[in-house]
Amino acid sequence: MVETEPRPRKPSLARGCELPAGRPRLQGSPVCGNCGACRSRPLPLSFAVHCGFLTIMFLPLNASASATDLPHECTFAEADWRILSRFWHPIAFCHEIKERPVAARLLDVDLVIWRTANGLSVARDLCPHRGTRLSAGRVDADQLICPMHGLHFDPAGLCTRIPSNPDQNARISPRLRLQSLLTQERFGILWTCLSDEPAWPLPDWPGLRDPALRKVFVPANTWAAAASRHVENFNDVAHFPWVHKETFGGSEEDRFPSYKVTDTDYGLTFDLGYDEGGNRFPDDVPGDSRHVVYTYELTYPFSTIIIIKPNDSWYVQYFADTVCPVSAYETKIFQVATDTTGAPDEAFLIRESLTINDEDKALVEAQRPQDLPLNVRDEVHIPADAMSIAYRRGLVRHFGLGGDLFR
Ligand code: FES
Ligand SMILES: [Fe+2]
Repeated sequence: MVETEPRPRKPSLARGCELPAGRPRLQGSPVCGNCGACRSRPLPLSFAVHCGFLTIMFLPLNASASATDLPHECTFAEADWRILSRFWHPIAFCHEIKERPVAARLLDVDLVIWRTANGLSVARDLCPHRGTRLSAGRVDADQLICPMHGLHFDPAGLCTRIPSNPDQNARISPRLRLQSLLTQERFGILWTCLSDEPAWPLPDWPGLRDPALRKVFVPANTWAAAASRHVENFNDVAHFPWVHKETFGGSEEDRFPSYKVTDTDYGLTFDLGYDEGGNRFPDDVPGDSRHVVYTYELTYPFSTIIIIKPNDSWYVQYFADTVCPVSAYETKIFQVATDTTGAPDEAFLIRESLTINDEDKALVEAQRPQDLPLNVRDEVHIPADAMSIAYRRGLVRHFGLGGDLFR
């Protein structure tokens, strides 16, 4: 890697300075100097390069022996990254992947998505020949074609053609294969997992799994906030009268009854009644405000559906929210909705959802710390926070997120 300027330091990189156990150390003991824990200890070469504090022109001959699978400039603590990498995460709306390959990023890993006759394929966005970005290439007859030397890769990631080979029938090395990932297409969303053994199931959302109910896809938006901060906001009802004044928020004087959060096989659930301001439901029930019952169903780590039932009505709305942790403080939001009309008003639902998201966005992006405090004593709670507390505790109890940075 050739660099003429030192890389800017990112405060978040301090979390990535943990020394992986058992990795070879570089002679000469370079230190990153980014945090106290590293200052007096030798760094393994791969980690120093990974952190961006050591820049070198040539990888040494033994580089592969000390290679790490962590992404370059990983913004997560290594232990958290390894846990999160074992979940399914959403990376795109299926309908947005057309004839060209598309780049995506998940947990600081660059990915390429392309469409084949049998569905969508996902791989790390890295040509095994010379490290070129495959997302800059093209797709032809199900083959992903690298823009640099035209190597062809099939939907499973195997190289099927090297255009410059003098003998086009010559055997192709099996090492010329992409780092392909598992995929699932569900609810119109493409999900992938960085591990071959996903640790948790995909959400199974009521309403949205009914093919008779047409789905509405809210255009994806990216927030400069941690995925967990977004999820916690999405599962918080007490902010409605304060933040959603222009949409559906009710009176600032309303009290919130205590509510019970229940563990499920996949996450957490709770029910809560609320008096919404305005009347946003297409069920011809008159009134300037509506009492609704919300049922929240959260699937760890970052997916939630709200089932919204207004009073005295046959109408039910299903509004799902799932997010891609692009990096520690960058979150891409995918929302899908439907309702029991079977043909929801797409323009209205999209417009209203974007407005509601905008009401939340600036406030969540400005929360500090950007990291969700998983020790519940690190922030002060109020009775309305039962879900927030259960979520923080669940991330620790079930998965061990938020472990020591320096173990
Ligand atoms: S770098 Fe991809 S084909 Fe050469
Ligand atoms: Fe909100």
